[in-house]
Amino acid sequence: MCGIVGVVGADNATPIILDGLSRLEYRGYDSAGIAVLQNSKIALRRDVGKLINLRRRVEADPLAGPIGIGHTRWATHGVPAEHNAHPHISMDGNFVVVHNGIVENYRELRAELIAEGVQFSSETDTEVIVHLVAKFAAGGDGDVTSAVRQTIGLLRGAHAIVVMNSAQPDRLVAVRIGNAGGVAVGLGDGSNFIASDIPAIIEETRRMIFLEHRQVATVFADHVDIQTADGAPVKPVIHTIGWDAVSAAKGEYQHFMQKEIFDQARSLTDTIRGRVDFETQQVVLPDLNLSTETAQQLQRIISVACGTSYYSSLVGKFYIEHLARLPVEVDYGSEFRYRDPIIGPNTAVLAITQSGETVDTLAAMEEARHKGALLWAIVNAMGSQAMRVSDGHITMNAGPEIGVASTKAFTSSIVDQFLLALYLGQLRGTLSEADRLHYLHQLTRIPDLVGRTLETFPVVQALASKFHNYRDFLYLGRGINYPIALEGALKLKEISYIHAEGYPAGEMKHGPIALIDENMPVLAIALKDALYEKMISQIEQAKARGGIVIAVATEGDEDIGQKADHVIHVPEVDPMLAPIVAVIPLQMLAYSIAVRRGADVDQPRNLAKSVTVE
Ligand code: AGP
Repeated sequence: MCGIVGVVGADNATPIILDGLSRLEYRGYDSAGIAVLQNSKIALRRDVGKLINLRRRVEADPLAGPIGIGHTRWATHGVPAEHNAHPHISMDGNFVVVHNGIVENYRELRAELIAEGVQFSSETDTEVIVHLVAKFAAGGDGDVTSAVRQTIGLLRGAHAIVVMNSAQPDRLVAVRIGNAGGVAVGLGDGSNFIASDIPAIIEETRRMIFLEHRQVATVFADHVDIQTADGAPVKPVIHTIGWDAVSAAKGEYQHFMQKEIFDQARSLTDTIRGRVDFETQQVVLPDLNLSTETAQQLQRIISVACGTSYYSSLVGKFYIEHLARLPVEVDYGSEFRYRDPIIGPNTAVLAITQSGETVDTLAAMEEARHKGALLWAIVNAMGSQAMRVSDGHITMNAGPEIGVASTKAFTSSIVDQFLLALYLGQLRGTLSEADRLHYLHQLTRIPDLVGRTLETFPVVQALASKFHNYRDFLYLGRGINYPIALEGALKLKEISYIHAEGYPAGEMKHGPIALIDENMPVLAIALKDALYEKMISQIEQAKARGGIVIAVATEGDEDIGQKADHVIHVPEVDPMLAPIVAVIPLQMLAYSIAVRRGADVDQPRNLAKSVTVE
């Protein structure tokens, strides 16, 4: 998720924009930029890496003026680099744009503009916007708002956009289309502001207008005109914000982890977006750089990861083996390099890492490279080491994950592996068209199913009030949901400090069932799938030994209420994609119990968001 700041009518826009961008640092970014109207001309400064790099560039080559825009980029299209950083500028230098979102049809728009003689200076999807605005302004009455409205009529996807034009130095134009992050218009005293999130401008003003879907704001220093994308006037609602800056970053949430759990319907939409060609109904993964021939020669995949990402790769094993008929071995990043792994010329090593900087996973990748494997990475952090050293990658596109306990990156990494498995199945001819269409349809249902599952939060909170003082938990799952039992246990352990174990339910009779009594609650994932009856039997065995059972069950399954003490119902979902839905209540349960225990949810003791040292 990128960050946007704009100001009109300032004594000097530069410090306001830079300070606003620094208050968006929590969103994470890999490059940043600023444009200010200086002596009637647009001055532009951009840099990669942390904001301090941009500040240094501005100190070395200052820019000042009453109006400007700034941006922190979380790259999706085009690697993190100065030339890919926003703002992007038109060929005549009279228009600049900053953008949050993905122009899904940018390839054809770019081709059309190039055919008309436009020269591009970046690999981003965003750059098509500024050239279209310049084109429509030149072809019309020159009004930037009209040109922006014509432009957004051509864009597919969700967007937050701000445009500045040197020929109309008294205004900025802001647009919101869909849910690519919000657009707040701040109403100051003699100056007005634009931001993608409240924290960026809350120090300047607490009076804000929040653009809604398909709204266009023309922001002057002393007033704001808002229209629909079709030009109809809109009477805005002005809100007064009571939050301080940091709590504003969490929006209406108490913790980043809670915000990220509840962000998953959106983040999974972003993970899927651009990966399915809906004309051909095929998965497209261009960043993997994989030829059909290489895919067909592959004989084996080894997945390497740590922690939550390791559990994600256990789910991915089911996908790749079932859909691409490729054997998959899964290993801990911290173990892989010490076992002299057997790697042949037709082995691919798949690293899964949210941060892309986990030292054990990177070391495993180095070992794989040394032994001649094809190297892939599934990463969330663009420009991270894992992404740079791999032969091909699939980004999670979950947006920055701030809470130490991984949630939305986990579900996005599972979807990425599902997409990889379908893609490999396409290239290797192991996936029938009927199956491909079936699974693609099931995949498009996931964001909505996750959104519905999040609605069980009150049920989960009630359970947390009953169970937050227990000292031990057992999480049970079978088949593709066994990794979810492991992940649910890890979530509880790492943020509430309660001892919890994930176990394959079929293994209970080989020892762990001796643990069961009234002091060891059992959480059982018992969805309506081929192993349902087996799970019911496990629940009965736990109950027979005085255990207390919380079941995660499929909506409509009322029988399970006769067996388990408590039930969390989740929507019916294809068994292959059930892990993505089943993990949501477990994330919410760990969060709710940790909050009840007064734990430091976002920064648990002894833990770091990315383990970059051994
Ligand atoms: C997950 O909640 C933990 N924070 C931890 O297990 C994490 O998944 C692990 O350190 C791997 O991180 P990565 O995905 O960034 O490589």
